[in-house]
Amino acid sequence: MHHLPLLPLLLLLCSRAEAGEIIGGTECKPHSRPYMAYLEIASRHGFLLSCGGFLIRRDFVLTAAHCAGRSIKVTLGAHNIEEKEDTWQELEVIKQFPHPKYDDSLLHNDIMLLKLKEKANLTLAVGPLPLPPQFYFVPPGRMCRVVGWGRTGVIKPGSDTLQEVKQRLMDPWACSHYSDFKHKLQLCVGNPKKINSAYKGDSGGPLLCAGVAQGIVSYGRHNAQPPAVFTRISPYRPWINKILKSN
Ligand SMILES: *[C@@H]1O[C@H](CO)[C@@H](O)[C@H](O)[C@H]1NC(C)=O
Repeated sequence: MHHLPLLPLLLLLCSRAEAGEIIGGTECKPHSRPYMAYLEIASRHGFLLSCGGFLIRRDFVLTAAHCAGRSIKVTLGAHNIEEKEDTWQELEVIKQFPHPKYDDSLLHNDIMLLKLKEKANLTLAVGPLPLPPQFYFVPPGRMCRVVGWGRTGVIKPGSDTLQEVKQRLMDPWACSHYSDFKHKLQLCVGNPKKINSAYKGDSGGPLLCAGVAQGIVSYGRHNAQPPAVFTRISPYRPWINKILKSN
């Protein structure tokens, strides 16, 4: 039997520390982020993992490719993931579409679409999030928000309730210590002088800038020291559109 905590499992899943958990954030107003999806993943090695994601169409969730697994269950309409409510909609994923050029050692193209078995019902607690157009390049300096159920401290257990934290988009040089960082396809997120950070468990969750999803939590340092690296969404619009159209 495996009774390992989530944190080392997430590290196993990925070749480097992941951005995953919100540290220094605040609890979201329940159901104020109706696109948020909680992903329970049965990994290919039989472990249970969790990730964030977000609804972009009634039957599609966007997340990180490193959250792929043998099977994935999606919960929509949740605030406290340990307390089932009438707002919950639990859906099976029938097909995982990791980006065809996802590189699991460099963590490039860390983006994945999940096709749900049924269409989610649109309610006050469940609804899709708009994506940016293809050529919208979000510039450094903007303040954005990261949302997730990740842990609330490096040694604290996972948060049961949805959390969010404000994060600054940094100049690419602030991520130059990540040797594989690509400014065109990734975002450098979080002021190194602040402790607020996305951390383990938030992987796959959105970066929201003025209410639009501009990034997906991808990876960071083991000690959660910002900045972290997020996948940009806008360059992947043609790929996203193609899969949405044909599925
Ligand atoms: C949507 O609503 C219908 C009718 O109430 C219900 O049968 C169905 O299970 C709901 N779908 C989900 C995903 O909860």
